[in-house]
Amino acid sequence: PFTAKCRAAGKTVEVGSEETLLQALLDAGISVDYSCEGGVCGTCVVPLIAGEVIHQDEFLLEDERAERMTPCVSRGIGEIEIDV
Ligand code: FES
Repeated sequence: PFTAKCRAAGKTVEVGSEETLLQALLDAGISVDYSCEGGVCGTCVVPLIAGEVIHQDEFLLEDERAERMTPCVSRGIGEIEIDV
């Protein structure tokens, strides 16, 4: 599990082991566009403000990973902050 602070929405979302960050955001009423849900298309990419992320997509370039993440497959460690 990890925590995602959502700056634009002003909400903090807890993400359980059995769900994706994308699912947790949608469940919290935070709208994020998505398509493949498999880390391939890039539709769901959100700005990463702070925190450590385990990137599991095949879309972002290495040098983009410090500032962006794909919530459909990638997960935070502890607490992260994203701009959604
Ligand atoms: Fe396609 Fe996340 S929905 S990369």
